[in-house]
Amino acid sequence: MRMAVLTGGGDCPGLNAVIRAVVLTGHQVHGDDVIGFLDGWRGVVDGRSVPLDPERCRDILALGGTILGTSRTNPFAEQEGVDRVLATLGDQGVDAVVAIGGDDTLGVASRLGPLGVRVVGVPKTIDNDLSGTEVTFGFDTAVQITVEAIDRLRTTAESHHRVMVCEVMGRHVGWIATYGGIAGGAAEILVPERPFDLAVVCERLVRRHQRGQYSSIVVVSEGATPTEGPDADSARAATAPRSVDAFGHGRLGGIGGWLAEEIERRTGFESRVTTLGHIQRGGTPTAFDRVLATRFGVAAVAAVHDCEFATMVALQAGEIVRVPLETAVGRPKTLDLSLLDEVALPFLG
Ligand code: F6P
Repeated sequence: MRMAVLTGGGDCPGLNAVIRAVVLTGHQVHGDDVIGFLDGWRGVVDGRSVPLDPERCRDILALGGTILGTSRTNPFAEQEGVDRVLATLGDQGVDAVVAIGGDDTLGVASRLGPLGVRVVGVPKTIDNDLSGTEVTFGFDTAVQITVEAIDRLRTTAESHHRVMVCEVMGRHVGWIATYGGIAGGAAEILVPERPFDLAVVCERLVRRHQRGQYSSIVVVSEGATPTEGPDADSARAATAPRSVDAFGHGRLGGIGGWLAEEIERRTGFESRVTTLGHIQRGGTPTAFDRVLATRFGVAAVAAVHDCEFATMVALQAGEIVRVPLETAVGRPKTLDLSLLDEVALPFLG
């Protein structure tokens, strides 16, 4: 069997661990020939691939990023994009594709299935917002980085008696903010799933101060917004996306800076912002993510050999399962708000 693997969308710690698992399992267990398309669906559209063998995968388990490169390419948004995908797969004799990606990359995979492309998906995203799986690899690493940052912010916040706003990734969902905030002992956790009332946030910070807690950590997802009204208008103006990608997503960022300024203006407490940004996506994956990525890679090759296409491997109740691709894409897995209401709430404010 000639199997192709690709990595699409934002990069994520653990991608190389999946590639390694796919290549080694394919070669050593099934005798497969494996190639890698470069830069996600871009490489398939353009017909750019490289051979992959165990030697090429040596020492990549702990390496961040992706040796194949990635992009946010949507063949369905390009003229002749899909025809070129089909032509490349035919020309290069590809029997099956393992697509490693998030909602956008796997959304493309799902739409290619009915056109005859035999594809198995592997769920990736630091945001942890893909449906069908309890966890995506990369999330654990991003949370770990967030917590390490909060721990550092805390000591300087305490020294200066400041409010430290920490902006984390999470376009539509607050998983990183919530896990990072709980583990880092944040005073406030603000997420996209629940617009925040800034007046209430400021009141709670003032009460903390009155109780003798002169510093506070506020964790905010990049996609969080104030409740509708003048604050929402003001935040929107300050955070307007600077560009939009091929899937229609605006480039987010800036809510943390807006928040720090507003908190300082309303409470009088000196405030600073730290935006973790792509630091959360770079570097070596945690042991949890290496293991999960490896399990996903092995399982994806098994699904290919069982001819269970149009599926995505997923983690459910500790077990690796296969779910239909179409059920995993198109609707983000939003935060379980009980985490905020039951687990985080007693420690907030
Ligand atoms: O991959 C998801 C994500 O990390 C989001 O959290 C974030 O909004 C986006 O990617 C950033 O994308 P880019 O790397 O294109 O700036």
